[in-house]
Amino acid sequence: MNVLVVGGGGREHAIAWRLARTARVFCAPGNPGTAGLATNLPIAVTNHRALRDAVRTHAIDLTIVGPEGPLAAGLADELGAAGHAVFGPSAAGARIEASKAFAKGLMHEAGIPTAASRTFTHLDDARRYIDRHPEPLVVKASGLAAGKGAVVCATRPDALAAARAMFDGQFGPAGDQVVIEAFLEGEELSVFALTDGERVLLLPAAQDHKRLHEGDTGPNTGGMGAYTPVSIATEPLLDRVEREILLPTLAALAARGAPYRGVLYAGLMIAPDGAPAVIEFNCRLGDPEAQVVLPATDADLLEDFWRIAAQEPWAPARRHLPAQHAAVTTVVAAPGYPEAPIKGARVTLPTETPPDALVFHAGTRREADGTLVVAGGRVLCATGFGPDVAAAATASRRLADAIAFDGKVLRRDIAWREIQRAGAA
Ligand code: AMP
Ligand code: GLY
Repeated sequence: MNVLVVGGGGREHAIAWRLARTARVFCAPGNPGTAGLATNLPIAVTNHRALRDAVRTHAIDLTIVGPEGPLAAGLADELGAAGHAVFGPSAAGARIEASKAFAKGLMHEAGIPTAASRTFTHLDDARRYIDRHPEPLVVKASGLAAGKGAVVCATRPDALAAARAMFDGQFGPAGDQVVIEAFLEGEELSVFALTDGERVLLLPAAQDHKRLHEGDTGPNTGGMGAYTPVSIATEPLLDRVEREILLPTLAALAARGAPYRGVLYAGLMIAPDGAPAVIEFNCRLGDPEAQVVLPATDADLLEDFWRIAAQEPWAPARRHLPAQHAAVTTVVAAPGYPEAPIKGARVTLPTETPPDALVFHAGTRREADGTLVVAGGRVLCATGFGPDVAAAATASRRLADAIAFDGKVLRRDIAWREIQRAGAA
């Protein structure tokens, strides 16, 4: 089978790595990491026409769209209309991520547990809401903001300042609508469902570390590391997430004329009493969660991806895939990330990757003379494996430490909660 993976980050490297055992893989545009296991096609994810041509030229049987941007821009609709099998939702389905206002409206209507919220288009209305609601408050740009559009505000003046910055255009058009919501207490969990719109197959649940600094402090980023399995993600909890959140959301999307195929990613808050609530939905795999979730299972997902994309009958043998190995990934970022990453430094990778680790490329570029250089905010992801999360974290950190470039930024405490929990048990 010929598979095209659209995208060029760490997530897409992980998808290509997973599928390259059983499929011939192409990546558009891919990165220096995918070049080792797939054929990179130099096509931007925004160039839908060139992607469509590539699907025809290379006799692609299945296209998997990694990032949210092209999904929100209708790539799956366009390829689908041309008769191609695409894994990833239509633009209408992708609104579940691309418009927090839409997602919140759908959740409130369908009775899906989520923080109380309202959506605003004018600062004065937002101000009145802020004045009437208890602190802390969370202020969010409704549109796509690369995981950086949410501000947790301890005080009302902070919330007002955040809303003002969004209406003033700090997040571009993403801030034309601003969602203000109640702060949820608890622990976060990322749940990934492969779905044909009716059935779900859950990948191992993961936890992401969105803050830049150790101890979960500092500014929000796209994610500085992730791990799986997460011991709070018990079977009863996942059953409940499926029943109370995933299946009703899919039904609500279908009822709105947006039947959903692809990954439905539920970013959850698990309350101290164990009740799950949705923080946000995404229409794709997480990055860097994919870099642990895919390597943690030995399941060959090609058949599932293909059946969902080709609208073939799909009856997954099980509903929840377990993590067969613990996996931890540490993101190695450029100096200045996330505000203003400095690019161009020369990268040195260890000459041999140990058997308990894998390097996924995220923001690298290969120069004409073969030199590898920093080309993005998140540069590389060092994934480590082990029999438990602590061992996997050690393997990940060891590999991350062995990657060298000027000014590299990384967290050395990925998976700390789980390690603390295991120590306390
Ligand atoms: P989002 O962009 O919606 O994923 O939010 C980014 C991060 O902000 C989340 O991963 C949470 O850590 C935090 N956050 C967002 N909404 C809430 C909320 N309602 N309560 C508590 N924390 C939140
Ligand atoms: N790591 C969070 C995300 O992919 O949105």
